[in-house]
Formats: sequence, C-alpha cells, structure tokens
Amino acid sequence: MSSVFGKNLIVTIFGQSHSKAIGVCLDNLPAGFEIDMEDLSDFMKRRSSINKPYSTKRKEKDQVEFLSGLVGNTTCGAPLCAIIYNNDIKPQDYESIKNILRPSHADYTAQMKYKGYQDPTGGGHFSGRMTAPLCIAGAICLQILKSEGIKIHAHIKKIYDVEDISFNPIGNNEDNIKKLMENDFPVIDINKGILMQEQIHKASQNLDSLGGIIECAVYGLPAGIGDPMFDGIENNISKAIFAIPAVKGIEFGNGFSCADLKGSENNDAFYVENNKVLTKTNNHGGILGGISSGMPLIFKVALKATPSIGIEQDSVNLSQMKNEKLRINGRHDPCIVPRAVPCVEAAAAIALLDMFMSFRIWR
Ligand SMILES: Cc1cc2nc3c(=O)[nH]c(=O)nc-3n(C[C@H](O)[C@H](O)[C@H](O)COP(=O)(O)O)c2cc1C
Repeated sequence: MSSVFGKNLIVTIFGQSHSKAIGVCLDNLPAGFEIDMEDLSDFMKRRSSINKPYSTKRKEKDQVEFLSGLVGNTTCGAPLCAIIYNNDIKPQDYESIKNILRPSHADYTAQMKYKGYQDPTGGGHFSGRMTAPLCIAGAICLQILKSEGIKIHAHIKKIYDVEDISFNPIGNNEDNIKKLMENDFPVIDINKGILMQEQIHKASQNLDSLGGIIECAVYGLPAGIGDPMFDGIENNISKAIFAIPAVKGIEFGNGFSCADLKGSENNDAFYVENNKVLTKTNNHGGILGGISSGMPLIFKVALKATPSIGIEQDSVNLSQMKNEKLRINGRHDPCIVPRAVPCVEAAAAIALLDMFMSFRIWR
C-alpha cells in the first residue's frame, strides 16, 4: 500500500485512523516560501470536527507539528514532513464488529487485499481521518498558488434535497466568495445552509446519514497549464479528489449534461476583451484538451452518505462465513459533506500546484 501523488510535487500520506500519528511528506516544494501558520491552522479547523454539531463526536485538535523541511516558517528545499498525533481514539468501539463487514465501507475489499493484516480500527488507512494530512499539504499548496494569483474556493452545492446557489462560471465571484467566507457552514446562501443542517439533524435522529455535492471553482489560473491525454487537468484533479473517501463522482463544467446539448448549444463562443481571449459561456469548465483555457475552472464532486449508520443492516460475519445483522454504534459523521469542503480545495490545490510546477520556472 502507498498513498503517493504527483509528478513534480510529490505528496506522500501516511498513518491510520488509530495509529500514533498521521502525516504527510512533500518533496520538491519550492525553497524560500514562508508558510503562514495562522492561515494553515484556520484551514485545518475547517476540516476538524470540533465545534461542528453535525459531525462525529471524535474530537481531534489536529495540531500540526513540522518535523523537517522548514527553517523557521520558510521552506528550505529539503523534504517537508508534518504530523498530527491521534489523541481521541477508542479502538474498543470496533471490537464487537471486528468480524462483521460494514456495508459500503472498505472492510471487505481491505480483507481481500491485505488478508486480515490490515488495521481495522477506525477504518485504518481507509479512514476519513487521512484527509487531515491531505489538508496540511493542500493548505501549503493553496498558499503558494495564492501568491501566484490563483485562488480556489469550494462550497456545499447540495445536501439531500436542499441546493445552494452556484458560483458564477464566467465572471467575477467576489460577492459569492465573500458570503461563503463569512459563513461557518460552507454555503453561499446562509438560509439554504440552515435547511441543510436541519436535514442532517433529522437524518442523524433517525440513525441515518446523508450525502451531497460540493462545487469548487479556481480563479486566476493562466491559460496553458496541463497536457492532453493522460496528464490533463481533469485526470490529475480527479486522481487527487478520489483520495477523499466517500467521493463517488466528479464532473467538470456542465459535466454529464453536455450529452443533452447540440454543438450549437454546448460550444462556448470566443471573444476578445482587453487583449485577452475569453469565452461567452463556460460549459467547458475552464479546460479544453486537458489544458486550462484561462476561464474559471469549475467542477462538482458527489459524495455518498456516510456508510456507518445506526440502523440495523444485513451483513456477513467473515470469521464464521454466515449472514449476520449489524448495528453500528461508535462515533460517526451523519454527513461527511461539510467537512469534505476544505478537503476538495486541498486536493485541487495539490493537483494544480503539481501541474503549475511544469508551467512556471521557479526561482
Ligand atoms: C472527512 C470524512 C469523514 C468520514 N467519516 C466517516 C465516518 O465517520 N464513518 C464512516 O463510515 N465513513 C466515514 N467516511 C467515509 C469512509 O471513510 C469511506 O466511505 C470508506 O473508507 C469507503 O471508501 P469509499 O466510500 O471511497 O469507497 C468519512 C469520509 C471523510 C472524507
């Protein structure tokens, strides 16, 4: 097993939900970049479950400790390694269900691949907890991209039957982003956020869970980043986004709905303004031929409902190879979507900085 991403910027994530620590190594970061530690800590808090009524009762502070790669707060060119200690662990929660497969979780496939040697507590390396080191790497990449004028923002587009408004695909989004930054719950329309939280609460009361959709937008990305075929922007962002457990789908621009449109409806007409080539619409989501067009890069990510639910489910006891009922107690997010919003920004930032490093010659 290895969790390694990247061609220029190499990101390696290690640890398990209940191991002593989890962490990330970053190779080839540009030297001389001063990390804003307060900004990094604020970013980590957006993923954390602390002070979030709709998330797991497992409360980890997610205090980041840098082991290498920095002199003071500035990258020195050496591999950067950062860890977070796991403090709030309760392996006993998993003892009674150790041999019973959790439907829609990775227990069965992990067993088939690692022959029983996998760490089962808290989902081991398959856990949503592994998105904490993903967010450390992402926070650093976001800061570097921001220093180059590239900004990445995500919000909850949909939970169950409640939908937020969308980012503007062609132009200025300052107003929507300002509203988003002011809300603790990551939506543009605060009233829709209240309705979403009510739906999550209702599902949790019924011992059930919910999924949803996250929309992400990248502004300021110059035209000309990416490659055709295997190394396109869609390929690389998708690979990084699927590192987030529970992600089941991604669509760029108008995505699957492009199949319903005629060429005359789907094509984004070009025009020139202030010596810059732009498109009148943005069905292509800022990517043509795997390469950035200079228009906002927009994509949506679908997440399934949290697999661990309190409702009794049919399953299999693997040690006895017989059918058995399963009721999961433990501590779980009734809806993963709000905490996955910074994870989506982080994954996009890692993929884009990796590609940006082929485009931009660093000092
Ligand atoms: C931030 C975050 C938190 C998660 N918390 C839980 C949880 O509390 N309980 C659970 O069953 N799954 C949780 N998941 C999802 C599972 O880890 C995931 O569904 C499982 O590993 C199987 O992977 P797959 O859904 O990608 O196939 C979480 C995912 C994320 C991103």
